[in-house]
Amino acid sequence: MGRPRRAGRSREPQAEAYRLSDILAGQPGDPELLAEVYDLEHDAVDEDLAFYREWARRSPGSVIDLGCGSGRLFEALLAGGATRIVGVDGSPSLLARASARIERHASLRDAHARGRIELVEGDVRRIRRPDRFALAILAGVLSHLDGPEDALRALTVARRLLEPDGTLVVDVLGPGGLPPHDLPLSVDWEREWGDRRVVRRSRLERRETPEGLRVAYATLTDVVRADGTIARLPASFRLWYPPAAALIALAGEAELAVHGIYGSHDLEALDDDSERCIIVARPLTVGLETE
Ligand SMILES: C[S@@+](CC[C@H](N)C(=O)[O-])C[C@H]1O[C@@H](n2cnc3c(N)ncnc32)[C@H](O)[C@@H]1O
Repeated sequence: MGRPRRAGRSREPQAEAYRLSDILAGQPGDPELLAEVYDLEHDAVDEDLAFYREWARRSPGSVIDLGCGSGRLFEALLAGGATRIVGVDGSPSLLARASARIERHASLRDAHARGRIELVEGDVRRIRRPDRFALAILAGVLSHLDGPEDALRALTVARRLLEPDGTLVVDVLGPGGLPPHDLPLSVDWEREWGDRRVVRRSRLERRETPEGLRVAYATLTDVVRADGTIARLPASFRLWYPPAAALIALAGEAELAVHGIYGSHDLEALDDDSERCIIVARPLTVGLETE
């Protein structure tokens, strides 16, 4: 399987105003190993798969998964009937994991061989394509952006990528899922991984700001090999959690009409205890833009 296609003609210089779109670049640890550990951690997350399968079923046609990571949602989207999946991510290492996932799973391998899955290295704040999609997904992505301005860029990009009656699903942590206080460095989990053992520690510092909760999240992952040697992978992330009202206002600014607001993948109403904040939106205006 070839290297994912880069959107646009060449690697764009990162303007000062933009945070890098590759969350693993610039970390002191090896990005490939960090991506493997990311997979180990995120593959265990499956409680949202039925939700995304259902949105693919309700939105017949092609799907663009913006910030697809290692393609965790791809099988669910195919199972829901997606005719084509475009996975966009800023991290080449995570896209390489997505390629490996496609190779591993027969349904994904078959769909890829038929041209129904495409991986694209790109920035969700800027990507432009000539094709349009029945469903666009931003799952867990907005929190990695710098704040409202970047989120507005990503929402506007998503709206432009939708068919006139297409659907956008934006999925971030809800108020009940946010850390209530700073957490000192402590062990999150330990796991056997083939002949290796992985110990993940993290600490976080939170800061309430007018535009939402900002979190400095630092992880320290030790991969202990069978011979006892340790690969130590420090990484740090700056995360932003917009309140629902801010997200809804940003959707309006991006010319999206919000059709549903949910507090869980079971479509429960959003309240102060909700673990998720999910917004389902459609384009407000149609056919006015040329690319
Ligand atoms: C928490 S992960 C979620 C991955 C996937 N959506 C899922 O639900 O499993 C966030 C993803 O957003 C990607 N990402 C963050 N900022 C990005 C940007 N500006 N452009 C493209 N991808 C970005 C990261 O590389 C990462 O894969």
